[in-house]
Amino acid sequence: MADRAVHIAPSILSADFARLAEEVNRVEEGGADLLHIDVMDGHFVPNLTIGPPIVESLRKVTKLPLDVHLMITDADAFIADFAEAGADYLTVHVEACPHLHRTVQAIKERGVKAGVTLNPATPLVSLEEIVRDVDLLLIMSVNPGFGGQQFIPSVLQKIVRARQLIDQTKSHALLEVDGGIKPENAAQVITAGADILVAGSAVFCGTDYAATIAALRGPSDGHGISRTVKRVSSRQ
Ligand code: DX5
Ligand code: ZN
Repeated sequence: MADRAVHIAPSILSADFARLAEEVNRVEEGGADLLHIDVMDGHFVPNLTIGPPIVESLRKVTKLPLDVHLMITDADAFIADFAEAGADYLTVHVEACPHLHRTVQAIKERGVKAGVTLNPATPLVSLEEIVRDVDLLLIMSVNPGFGGQQFIPSVLQKIVRARQLIDQTKSHALLEVDGGIKPENAAQVITAGADILVAGSAVFCGTDYAATIAALRGPSDGHGISRTVKRVSSRQ
């Protein structure tokens, strides 16, 4: 058994962009721990979303850490812009970064926490050589590009193995999971080993953001520590 705080990161992809500051304030007041910001370039993924000016605007209206997920082909070209805009975490896709070590160092040199992430079909072994250098390891539980997709169940075992990789290598990286997370499957994802749950449509397509955030987090001891998590084995 292990006590682990569970953090909730609402993804603004499913928010009402015409009222973005209000939406962000509602999740902040509703108990969110981070704000997940999905950046898409219409090239690495088949969708276009937002860029550094929006991150800069959000920085002015919230105290939440800004968790910026870069789904873009040329992450290196935008690290400086997102760092200056106020990103706290910058997460890049291993599939888009041939010189991943250099990219991670470039993020950290800007004073930003560095994250790395994998598409569902990319093997975890791609991160073995970098896991001790990063602050965040993001496991995608949908193919990136859109909100509102179904959680891919086979990813659960990958989360278990990612937890083991972090623990065995004594990495300080937080383990985040993104895509298709709802109150109904959140407990499974937490039990598999996640520290941070991203949730877009589950939060913003509902009416009571605080209730959804609380439901995602699960039972609390009232001191910010959620659930006593029983680790599961990857061999089950
Ligand atoms: C998918 C994005 C996710 C997305 C999650 O490409 O990276 O962050 O917003 O949305 P839901 O929670 O609706 O699957
Ligand atoms: Zn995301």
